[in-house]
Amino acid sequence: MANYIGIDLGTTFSAVAYIDDSGRPKIIENDQGDNITPSVVAKNKKGEIVVGEFARKQWGTDDSMAVARFKRDMGSSTIYQIAGDSVSPTELSSAVLKEMKKIAETQSGEIIEAVVTIPANFSNEARDATMEAARMAGLNVKYIVNEPTAAALYYAYESDGELSGTYVVFDLGGGTFDVSVIRVNGHDVDVIASNGLHKLGGDDFDRALWGVVAEKYKKATGEVLTYEDYSINDAEDEKKSLTGRKKAGAEIGRELIDVTRIEFEEAISSLMAQIEMMCETTLDEADVVPGDVTSVLLAGGSTRIPVVMDVVKKVFGQDPVASVNVDEVVALGAALYAAYKSDGSGLSEIQKKSVSKLKVSEKTNSYLGTLSIGYSESKGESLANSILINKGESIPCEVKKSFYTLHAGQTAITCTITESKSPETNPRFVKIISESALELPPNRLEHQEIEVTYSYDANQIIKASFKDVATGKVSEIEVSIKNENNVSTGIDKFLVD
Ligand SMILES: Nc1ncnc2c1ncn2[C@@H]1O[C@H](COP(=O)(O)OP(=O)(O)OP(=O)(O)O)[C@@H](O)[C@H]1O
Ligand SMILES: [Mg+2]
Repeated sequence: MANYIGIDLGTTFSAVAYIDDSGRPKIIENDQGDNITPSVVAKNKKGEIVVGEFARKQWGTDDSMAVARFKRDMGSSTIYQIAGDSVSPTELSSAVLKEMKKIAETQSGEIIEAVVTIPANFSNEARDATMEAARMAGLNVKYIVNEPTAAALYYAYESDGELSGTYVVFDLGGGTFDVSVIRVNGHDVDVIASNGLHKLGGDDFDRALWGVVAEKYKKATGEVLTYEDYSINDAEDEKKSLTGRKKAGAEIGRELIDVTRIEFEEAISSLMAQIEMMCETTLDEADVVPGDVTSVLLAGGSTRIPVVMDVVKKVFGQDPVASVNVDEVVALGAALYAAYKSDGSGLSEIQKKSVSKLKVSEKTNSYLGTLSIGYSESKGESLANSILINKGESIPCEVKKSFYTLHAGQTAITCTITESKSPETNPRFVKIISESALELPPNRLEHQEIEVTYSYDANQIIKASFKDVATGKVSEIEVSIKNENNVSTGIDKFLVD
């Protein structure tokens, strides 16, 4: 039977779920009987690409033959090497998605449509790269969805319409941390603020623990610890055992190196502080105080770590809810999202009924504008920020606004895109996230119309276009509000409001 699937393309592990005959989302096991599959790509002796546990073992011992953690570089120009071959993060993600597709096909046969999840703070480039990876894997993907949104959707579905209020989704996985404030009313899920740390997760805890072991080993033996003696996979196993125990030990050579939970917690304390700050910022952005939070919903394997739970309790003043398997919620929510977003033609009556109650919407979490010359009685002509898309606008959305050239004979305009957390008009208080020029034909009068359009599509890819109405000439810009390489100013020609 054909089906809708959701894939959680994780930094460390991936999972796939489908909508079963009873209309419920269900995880599909891989051929080894595991619900999650390592997001690791390797080459075997025959030179074939393999994904999963074998590749993970390979990566732990000989990383020239295997690649992992490439999700962190999605959308960048980073190139990895596997056994001498150059591969991009998009190609590597595509190999993982292909494997997940294969796993899904064993259970559900032909796949109608898939939804792939991404961290909420993924840039436009990383979103595009994920869509491209899915296409390369032969999947029909129209939508990608933010991981916290998928998790919230599953929690709302599971509670059978009983969730109501303001919730926090706290998602700490292998590579990224995401925190979102959502409003849930029965099956309606509204994401009102979302933030994340793109490079903070279980992987960093493994490295921190490896560092503790290396230091102790040096003290005990005088020797430098190598990855052959004690691999990152060994550190990960030891980290996991410290979740259930106060002390763990590793036999390295003839030496027994003990690590206590407290030592591990000290080694990751600065990372915990970053998580705490990000939670506070997100509450602020959502205009929510901890006392307003009905419950904290968890996702991600690293939320099992006791000190992470302590951070949640400290920031939100309550114990979180972990009624579901934290490794699986994102994939389960993504499968629901796939069915929810479909036209329903591939769903049975039971499946249709199961998802028909769901409703989910996301909101923009900053103001997007452009710089132009405004005129006021008091100041005369001055540079001002005009807002096109408001914070809190429902996604998808599109806004058009007309501006006009300033001078007769003006041959170019500067197209700036600004971002701010409050509705600023003063250009000094906004961040310029993109700046480019649009050339105009010579010898024109002043006040030529320039139509500016900003849009957020359903996959939260932001586009801006500046169109010279007289000639139809357009400058199209894909905006990345998470891109840190922002351009400098030095603007000379603007539009008139
Ligand atoms: N019992 C445990 N104690 C500590 N850490 C754990 C435990 N179980 C799993 N983890 C960690 O959780 C991480 C994997 O979680 P998950 O599968 O949610 O991440 P991911 O989806 O791959 O990553 P991301 O969402 O960041 O892209 C790994 O770093 C793993 O070591
Ligand atoms: Mg994850």
